[in-house]
Amino acid sequence: MDKIIKAVKLGYTYQSQYQRTRALLDVTCSFERGKMYAVTGKSGSGKSTFLSLLAGLDVPTEGNLYIDGKEIREIDRDRYRMNHVSVIYQAFHLFPLLTVLENVMFPLQLKHVSKKEAKARALEFLGKVGLTDTLYKKMPNMISGGEQQRVAIARAMAVGGQILLADEPTGNLDSQNEQVIVELLCRMAHEENYAVIVVTHNEQVAGAADVVCRMMDGVLEVVRE
Ligand SMILES: Nc1ncnc2c1ncn2[C@@H]1O[C@H](COP(=O)(O)OP(=O)(O)OP(=O)(O)O)[C@@H](O)[C@H]1O
Ligand SMILES: [Mg+2]
Repeated sequence: MDKIIKAVKLGYTYQSQYQRTRALLDVTCSFERGKMYAVTGKSGSGKSTFLSLLAGLDVPTEGNLYIDGKEIREIDRDRYRMNHVSVIYQAFHLFPLLTVLENVMFPLQLKHVSKKEAKARALEFLGKVGLTDTLYKKMPNMISGGEQQRVAIARAMAVGGQILLADEPTGNLDSQNEQVIVELLCRMAHEENYAVIVVTHNEQVAGAADVVCRMMDGVLEVVRE
């Protein structure tokens, strides 16, 4: 079994000058490559916080998180974010001054993939998310919310790696495009051998997942396996 992610008594507390919020309490779980996981749960239950720990954006305040056997505090998190994990954010975070095509190419070029190869890969994944080439030269503010979301998805998928995290990736899509994205996420798990973890309220996404978990007040439980 390839348990690429293992969390042991994982906790996270947001600490500001005035208050502490224990967003994640005691999460013990593991995730394998080749599977798609859905994480459901009420607003404020800790789902995005959990993803940001998995993404290496925040360090846990309690417990341990192991990525491929190594504790997250001991790995080079910049390298981890560049090479091993891709994130589709709840807000898309497209680069406003880059075209659609350049947005997808950019992370590849950061990794020193040649321009030609970056372009080929970007075109491949833009096609896979169902975006046509009339959009590729446009800036993000010239395309619809659902199209922006698909650019963000193409960008995350094009970079490669072992772990794909997505926070409500189908939130702005109609049911036809939702279906396209659900199928792509499944293929990333089953054919490209990613561990795919998707935060979702969407029944269709959860239904397609191999494992469904629920976050409740900072505690994660498996609902269906
Ligand atoms: N930057 C922050 N500073 C302080 N508290 C925060 C911060 N971000 C989130 N929280 C709090 O942590 C808890 C968990 O938030 P989180 O964003 O993980 O929830 P969520 O399950 O992703 O919710 P949603 O479904 O609305 O996106 C909430 O009580 C939230 O108010
Ligand atoms: Mg959230």
